[in-house]
Amino acid sequence: MFRIQPLVSVLLCCFTFWFHISCGYLITCSGIVPMRYRNDKVSITDFGGVGDGKTLNTKAFREAIYRIQHLRRRGGTLLYVPPGVYLTESFNLTSHMTLYLARGAVIKATQGGGVEISGGRERPGGRYMSFIHGDGLRDVVITGENGTIDGQGGIWWNMWRRGNLQFTRPNLVEFMNSRGIIISNVIFKNSPFWNIHPVYCSNVVIRYVTILAPTDSPNTDGIDPDSSSNVCIEDSFISTGDDLVAVKSGWDEYGIAYGRPSSHITIRRVTGSSPFAGIAVGSETSGGVEHVLAENIVIYNSGIGVNIKTNIGRGGFIKNITVSQVFMENVRTGIKIAGDTGDHPDNRFNPNALPYVKGVTLKNIWGVKVQKAGSIQGLKNAPFTNICLSKINLHGMTGPRSPPWKCSDVSGAAIEVSPSPCAQLSSLEQSGSCANHF
Ligand SMILES: *[C@@H]1O[C@H](CO)[C@@H](O)[C@H](O)[C@H]1NC(C)=O
Ligand SMILES: *[C@@H]1O[C@H](CO)[C@@H](O)[C@H](O)[C@H]1NC(C)=O
Repeated sequence: MFRIQPLVSVLLCCFTFWFHISCGYLITCSGIVPMRYRNDKVSITDFGGVGDGKTLNTKAFREAIYRIQHLRRRGGTLLYVPPGVYLTESFNLTSHMTLYLARGAVIKATQGGGVEISGGRERPGGRYMSFIHGDGLRDVVITGENGTIDGQGGIWWNMWRRGNLQFTRPNLVEFMNSRGIIISNVIFKNSPFWNIHPVYCSNVVIRYVTILAPTDSPNTDGIDPDSSSNVCIEDSFISTGDDLVAVKSGWDEYGIAYGRPSSHITIRRVTGSSPFAGIAVGSETSGGVEHVLAENIVIYNSGIGVNIKTNIGRGGFIKNITVSQVFMENVRTGIKIAGDTGDHPDNRFNPNALPYVKGVTLKNIWGVKVQKAGSIQGLKNAPFTNICLSKINLHGMTGPRSPPWKCSDVSGAAIEVSPSPCAQLSSLEQSGSCANHF
């Protein structure tokens, strides 16, 4: 899938380097979704769009997209949004289209308001439809010259803080049951809830995006690949109020019943800051998460650098996860793998539905100003196995060393880890844990 030849060369090339920024060339997401050139172009102004920041453009967006959907030009159609501020309510995209934001173009959500849609098969209760939404689509591109999609989340954050929300808040951009999606060169700002949420999707590329929300904005995750496969995220900057990238696959009995895993998720060259986690897997992993590779990640001023999280009642699995080449600075906890994170959608979860966590490799991780190196706490009846820590060096706040690791119900290996990790991970005969999976 990821063009093996360059991958092997880069690995060889990087073998002796701490970061492969020092290598001659980079591996990219190219190939997962072909970039489309569209001959047919329309502008939002053709449909009465006005970018004065006051006029409501809902009708213009809906009509433009209706036209793209029904005229079905060969090769699809590009919808151009010129510079200006286009206020609109939520709208649906359609297949074979490019939403193109010119430099200085802002698509801005009207404050509050929203249409309820059903919770989907994995979650109970209703939720509001995302601001920009796509269901059952293929071949969709959101791109341009770094224009902005602004969710005006403030009013939603306040409703959440006051506890007077009826349904789950809307995502800024959500694709469901879709494939062949590219999101690039766009700035996402102030999402009411998660920013970019591909769910039940495949072949999704997200690159050169900037995602911004205040540190205290609740649940403003950057990118949440959810029950999706072949998702590639790269070259992006994310600074929000929750996890920067969190790979998920459904919640407790709902996610178990739906049973759709997230697999083949690649995250590389992502930089940012989060009061929670930089790179996260979970905690909703009931459909399973496997084959995740995160590399060349820079995390600063954050809660947790790398966080793999699940809970009793989740069931599912987390396996074959590799996180490598991470630099972190000024974080509370460097690495945390935990079996007791997150809450439950309701109390109908099955306490015997234990998650299965096996094959997590964390390597080449360097941290400074790390308050606590890490903790790995499995479940008594479902210990985490084949956990490999290799070449990890986390410096404390003041001295050269941060406080020791905490571990329980875990097995695996640790090679060249400082401060030295818990005894469960140091046994040499288990060093196979580090050899099995790159
Ligand atoms: C958008 O699509 C959803 C289904 O995914 C539908 O319920 C909703 O009515 C559509 N909204 C508009 C404005 O067409
Ligand atoms: C848009 O932003 C990306 C990422 O910050 C940057 O690499 C790219 O050069 C910018 N593109 C334009 C057209 O300004």
